[in-house]
Amino acid sequence: MNLSSMRIFDGGQQFLHSLLRMNFTGLSGQIQFDVDKNLVHPAYDVLNIGGTGSRRIGYWSNYSGLSTVTPEVLYRKPPNTSVSSQHLYSVIWPGETSIVPRGWVFPENGRPLRIAVPNRVSYLQFVSKDRNPPGVRGYCIDVFEAALNLLPYPVPRVYMLHGDGRRNPVYNEIVQAVAEDRYDAAVGDVTIVTNRTKIVDFTQPFMESGLVVVAPVKEVKSSPWAFLRPFTFQMWLVTGAFFLFVGAVVWILEHRINNEFRGPPWKQITTIFWFSFSTMFFSHRENTVSTLGRLVLIIWLFVVLIINSSYTASLTSILTVQELTSRIEGIDSLASSNEPIGIQDGSFARNYLIEELHIAESRLVILKTQQEYSSSLHLGPNRGGVAAIVDELPYIELFLSASTCAFKIVGQEFTKSGWGFAFQRDSPLAVDLSTAILQLSENGDLQKLNNKWLTHADCSEQVNEIDHYHLSLKSFWGLFLISGIACFIALVVFFYNIVCQYRRFTPEDGAAAEEGEIQLARPRRFLRSTSFKKLIDFVDMKVDTTKEMIKRKSTDIKRQGSPSSDGHAVSPS
Ligand code: GLY
Repeated sequence: MNLSSMRIFDGGQQFLHSLLRMNFTGLSGQIQFDVDKNLVHPAYDVLNIGGTGSRRIGYWSNYSGLSTVTPEVLYRKPPNTSVSSQHLYSVIWPGETSIVPRGWVFPENGRPLRIAVPNRVSYLQFVSKDRNPPGVRGYCIDVFEAALNLLPYPVPRVYMLHGDGRRNPVYNEIVQAVAEDRYDAAVGDVTIVTNRTKIVDFTQPFMESGLVVVAPVKEVKSSPWAFLRPFTFQMWLVTGAFFLFVGAVVWILEHRINNEFRGPPWKQITTIFWFSFSTMFFSHRENTVSTLGRLVLIIWLFVVLIINSSYTASLTSILTVQELTSRIEGIDSLASSNEPIGIQDGSFARNYLIEELHIAESRLVILKTQQEYSSSLHLGPNRGGVAAIVDELPYIELFLSASTCAFKIVGQEFTKSGWGFAFQRDSPLAVDLSTAILQLSENGDLQKLNNKWLTHADCSEQVNEIDHYHLSLKSFWGLFLISGIACFIALVVFFYNIVCQYRRFTPEDGAAAEEGEIQLARPRRFLRSTSFKKLIDFVDMKVDTTKEMIKRKSTDIKRQGSPSSDGHAVSPS
């Protein structure tokens, strides 16, 4: 480089003074600077350009802002920058309209939007090639067209199929092409996933989606222990305990007055068991004679009625509903196995399984058509098929509704996402179409389009989880509570009466009682005793005996308390 020819410019001040001294009329008007080095009276014409021509609709100057009067005239008046004085002549917008458009406006001579559409070979209901204009059809296209119709401006567009028509296109490539400006948008069953949202803008989802596992199922053989299945273990335990508890309570309440609940201890124990469990079939032979016993029994029989009918209904369902099970229980058991997994050609599922779930790529089998889905599941892992398929729910719903009921969704949907239309970053169309999609959803049009294109058969609903028919304690604890409370109240009343009666035997005056059904050789000592055993003996005593004793006791007291015929009081024995 010839550095010696370089010169240092040090005439900056002189250059500045030359500029500040300028005063001439250029193309844009007067060129002159004030002492603050600002242009003197800067002003511009405001033009409305339409087609190939233009018209002036006003002026702008920093003296008075926007106006329809020339700045030269305004300079002679005091400055007025009030909002009311800021106006221009009306603008003619593209389309020869003076209504201000909102959002993007595509000029009629503008380039139409280049819209990429996946050229699918499976699940054509969502989007596919069409011989007739506009060249594509399907649920996604109908949703897009319906959303465009809600926009307040026209959007010229051309649909461009992406894919060779022999295999589903790779959806990541379509999104990449939009980001690289090879298309303006992508319309179809494009899933909104994180990697894609980094390079394009998606509209609101118009379809819910998520990955699920589909596996072959086989019918479960009926078990000889099926009769135990209507109730959970806990329910059986509590029901059995309540039968015995109610039997015991009724025995306590009846024992003193009912000969059928009396007798030697072993007979009474047998009676309790027999009585308890015969209420299950309402076939108990022992009569209940006490009011409290009847109260407890009637409530218990109501509980038994409900339990019996629930058991019958549940057992009927279990024995008549087809129960299907699968070796694969969900994504966790599938991922931890080493078996081949089917995935849809072109789908993001491949990347997800490899990158997020760390499933070996060699295990993934690409399935191109619905027939391949079906045949590889039928073949199974041992005959060159797959153990299960991982795909998005909307495809699987269509697949299951069109196939025999030999497959079912196992486990939960393990990702949650949706399908949206992809636009280049910062495209205002993405925002406007999101609003339009929400409108479609709210006014029910989205559902109508769904019904038009995606009819689902009921096969998936026939596959019931037998667990639904298990009855647990949760459904019955209210009944047990009512019965328990009734037993408790009855026992409290019963023992209150017993204690009252027992206290009438406790003679402050030393009244005598004779031997009754229990051994009362020394009645006074018995009556004074308050030991627990004596109380139990008293409870065990038949009520008639008790009454008789009370009667005798009262007679004795009266006799002892009244003067004798010879004028002497009888002393207590
Ligand atoms: N729905 C297919 C995909 O976006 O990968």
